[in-house]
This record gives sequence, C-alpha cells and structure tokens, in this order.
Amino acid sequence: MLLAARYNPVMSWRTIFRTFVAAALLSLSAAVSAQQLVNGYEPKWWKEAVVYQIYPRSFKDSNGDGIGDLPGITSKLDYLQKLGVNVIWLSPHFDSPNADNGYDIRDYRKVMSEFGTMSDFDTLLAGIKQRHMRLIIDLVVNHTSDENKWFVESRSSKTNPYRDFYIWRPGNTAPDGTQTPPNNYPSYFSGSAWALDPKTNEYYLHYFAAKQPDLNWANPKVREEVYSLMRFWLDKGVSGFRMDVIPLISKPTGMPDLTAEQLKAPPNAYANGPHLAEYLREMNREVLSRYDDMSVGEATGTTLAQTNSLVDDRRHELNMIFNFDAIKIGRSDFGPSQLGGWSLPELKAIYDEHAAVLTKHDWDTVFLSNHDNPRIVSTFGDDSPAMRASSAKLFETMILTLRGTPFLYQGDELGMTDYPFKKLEDYDDIAIKNAYKAEVETGKLSAEAFLASQAKVARDNARTPMQWDSSPQAGFTTGTHPWLAVNPNYKQINAAEEESDPASELNFVRALIKLRAQTLAFVYGDFEDLDPQHPQVFAYTRTLDKERYLVVENFSSSPIQYTLPRGLKAATLLLSDLPNSHEANTSTLSLGAWESRIYKQ
Ligand code: NOJ
Ligand code: CA
Repeated sequence: MLLAARYNPVMSWRTIFRTFVAAALLSLSAAVSAQQLVNGYEPKWWKEAVVYQIYPRSFKDSNGDGIGDLPGITSKLDYLQKLGVNVIWLSPHFDSPNADNGYDIRDYRKVMSEFGTMSDFDTLLAGIKQRHMRLIIDLVVNHTSDENKWFVESRSSKTNPYRDFYIWRPGNTAPDGTQTPPNNYPSYFSGSAWALDPKTNEYYLHYFAAKQPDLNWANPKVREEVYSLMRFWLDKGVSGFRMDVIPLISKPTGMPDLTAEQLKAPPNAYANGPHLAEYLREMNREVLSRYDDMSVGEATGTTLAQTNSLVDDRRHELNMIFNFDAIKIGRSDFGPSQLGGWSLPELKAIYDEHAAVLTKHDWDTVFLSNHDNPRIVSTFGDDSPAMRASSAKLFETMILTLRGTPFLYQGDELGMTDYPFKKLEDYDDIAIKNAYKAEVETGKLSAEAFLASQAKVARDNARTPMQWDSSPQAGFTTGTHPWLAVNPNYKQINAAEEESDPASELNFVRALIKLRAQTLAFVYGDFEDLDPQHPQVFAYTRTLDKERYLVVENFSSSPIQYTLPRGLKAATLLLSDLPNSHEANTSTLSLGAWESRIYKQ
C-alpha cells in the first residue's frame, strides 16, 4: 500500500498521509488479532516450544580431547532438527575453571576454551537459526567463580571498589578465641556456606562450592553488570535464558541463623528473599522486555504457591520456572539425598495441583530430568532390558502431553540409563566428592552405604557421554579418554542403532514431537486427570475447544485391563508404543507393560 502511494504521482500529501494511517492501523489490528487468546492463554512461541537441554561437556567431542565442544554440537544439529525440538538450552559455555563444570563463571563474555572459540559459538548459533530453531543459554548470576575478576578485586582489600560485589562478613569469635562463620548456613555442596579469606580475615558467602562466591544483588552495580552481559548475548542473537537458582539472588533480611526446622530444608529459607520481585522486575524492564526472548528460572526452594508470583504475566518477571516437586518426588532438594519411595497417585497429585493452582496468566514447565538428576528411566521407570524401551517411551509421552513447555534432556530420547557407579573415583562431580568428605570421612556413614545410595541419585548419571553409535566410546570422541566414562550399555543403547529400528525410543519420540507440533490442544488445552487415585494408570485428557485428546499410561511392568471411568470410550488411536496395539472405540483397554497411548476423542 505504501509502495503504491510512493509511485503514484497524482496522489496528494493528504492522500499519502491517510494511506499511511490506514496501513498503520491495518498492521496494528493484525498484531492485535495475532495476540488473540487461545483458550484464555496469550499465544507465545516459547509456550509452543519443545526444549532440548545440551550439557556441552558430554554431547559430542569434535577434536578427540575427550571433552564435548561447540563444533561437536554444530555437527549434530541435523540430528536435533530431525528429532523435532525447536529450542536448545545450552548449559554454561563460558570461560570457567570448572570447579562445578561451568556453573562457576570466570568471564561471562568469553567461551570456555575447551569448548571452542567465540567464532565456534557464532557458527553454532547460525546453524541453529538456519534450521529455524532457537538457542537459550544458562545465566548463572547468583554466584561467579572465585577466579572472576570481580572477585579477585573484591577479596584484595576491604576498600576495593569491588568489595561490595560479594557478601562479606566478619566471623564470630568462639569462647576459645577461634573464628567461626557469621551464621549457621550450610552449603548445597556440604559444609558451611561461608569461607574465611585470610587476606582480609573476613568470610564470604558461597551457597555452592567455596570457588563459587555469591554475588551481592543488593549492590546496583552488580545488577547493571548482569543486565549488560545479558544484553551482550541477546544482541548476539540468543533467544533467552535458563536462570540458575534465580530465587536465591535476594538473601534473607539480616541473614540470621537458620532454625532447626529451617535446617531441614535450607533452600526454602534461602530462596525468595524480600527483594526478589524487585530485582526480577528491574531485569525484565531493563533487558527481557526489550527482546523477543524467553526466560525460565530454576526455582530451587520455591513452592508451587510461590510460582504464580514469579511467572504471572501481569507481574513482568519471568516466563516460566522449573518447579522440582515432580522430579524430586520422595527426596530432598538439598545435600546428598536418597532415592525416596513414591506412588503414582502422589505423582499425579503434583500435576493435578499445578493445574489447579496455575492460572491462564501463568505458564508451566514439564520435565523429569536435567544435568543435576539421575536418568528418568532408571529413576521413575524400569531400566531392565525387557522394560526399558517401553518405560522410557511412557515418560516421554507424559512430558510431551502434560500442560507446560516440555524440557527434554540429551539422551532421554534414546532411553539412556544410569551408570553403574561403584567407587568414588568413578565420579567427577564436586557435590559428591564434598558429600563423601562430609559424610564418610567424618564417620557418619560407611563408604558402602554412601556409595550405594548416591549411585541412584548422583548427578553424574546424567553427565556420561551421549551414546551416538556402537563404535569405541559410543562415537562421543575419537580419543580414548572421555572426561567421564561412557555407560557400558552403549552397544545396545545408541542413536545409530535406534535410527534404524522403527520401534525404537528415538523414532517414538520423533513421532511424539511431531504429533505435538500438529496439535495445539497439547499446548493450550485444559488438562483433566480422569482417575487420580488409580495406583497403576495415569489417564488424562487435553481439551481445546471441541478437540479432545486422551492419554493413557500404564506405570507398571504388569499388563492391565483398564476400564476408563465415567463410561468414557477411547476413540481413535493416534500413537502407541506397542506396534500391535490397535484397540479403538472401546472403554476397556488391554495395556501392556509400561504401555502409553494417545487417542483422539
Ligand atoms: C544449579 C545447577 O543446575 C547446578 O548444576 C549447579 O551446580 C548449581 N546450580 C550451582 O550453580
Ligand atoms: Ca573437544
């Protein structure tokens, strides 16, 4: 329209102006109609996304040094595109001394040298965009590395301009004259959360390792620095952030000792300090609202009720958070936890509660794995050879059909399992090494008891190299020494093997993602749990206007004849993990072990 105006010599300026106004109104109304609500939800690309988390150290090594790297990821972008995921979350790729595998950042504007260069990053990002995918990166700003230049300055003297970038306190003096920490805060990685720094004889706070000092968010200069580094990466073209332990950035007022009750669950006491909302709104105003980005906060210590206050879109804070109720069912969110017992009605109750508590202004995430937790199939399912494939498929079905943006972790699509850890030396993770010192070396637990319980929950279970094929080291590296050992089951479980098997987990997950991409009801549809108390079957519907889908999952290695409640009938079968399942138009289903099915009603 504007072009026509420009080339028409007989048009008056008034006509041109009118035409311009009309065009502007038209595009405005197009924008408004694009924003029309879907089932009460404001449509957003990040609500419709399927996110895939990459732990770069373990994904693909391109140069044979045994450490995954950015060119390695670039070489696997076709694999990810074929899988159907459209957002990649990259665990930290920044310069780091790796006390906690990159969650201790030395330089926020530099790429970790083992992972490559900035130009490798640019190539990766361009490859992602070329394939119509997006990249989100890890924002780790509750703490830095102690080798970060801010901390090097900060610790150098009490009067250094960076002193106030971190949280320093004098210690207490015990009756015998020795110094003790300012309060009784424990660290997530065992021991006190305070370290005495001899240079100035004061303690600094570190909720995680001593090499991860906590930033002082009360200092506006710290916040400005964070916003500036966020802009740096957004301007490069990333599409947002996964925000590490974000509810911890605002510390409790005065930081008094934790009570005995609080010491049972320190994250609840540490998280959601009095200034959290203020900081997040400022971050949103200064940065997030200026880009077409997504933000997902890792909400340690945050209850479901507190979720609304972080993600309600009228508050302008975050888009989504990770709530850990499901992934941590039966175990704690702090320290060396044990794998707890859980029942299916308990798990369902968590999702039912999410549906009840979160409003159409909130948005949820669905996940059962990440780099901090053991493998889904070994934890929630049955990783025995006969049951592994079906139980892995069941959990992927659940994650991709419940309400919320699904987050898949690398290797889940293959049904990768826990590693058979035996000795302390099998591990790399600082969390487990510190816990061993605190639990075993002090005589609280025997080494056998500690190692047996930790093998089931250890973070390194998720960090073993990605299993690409049946060649040595599972095709992860051409070298002989991967940084963490490859799971010995790689000859049976690997991407190449599964590629050629139409009934594999990989091909099933591809089909699931494709179905989800074609079915808006799985994104914006209402969720209803049909049978909350049933001990073995999770049956639920997702409904969008007149479209309804039914998902039925048998959480057991025993087959079951399951009759749908309320006289409901399963209508048209869309997807089942057992190729010989054809049951349709029936109210009683013969479900095989760990079978999952999706019907259109
Ligand atoms: C949560 C991260 O996911 C975990 O890997 C890390 O150790 C801690 N935050 C500290 O950054
Ligand atoms: Ca490498």
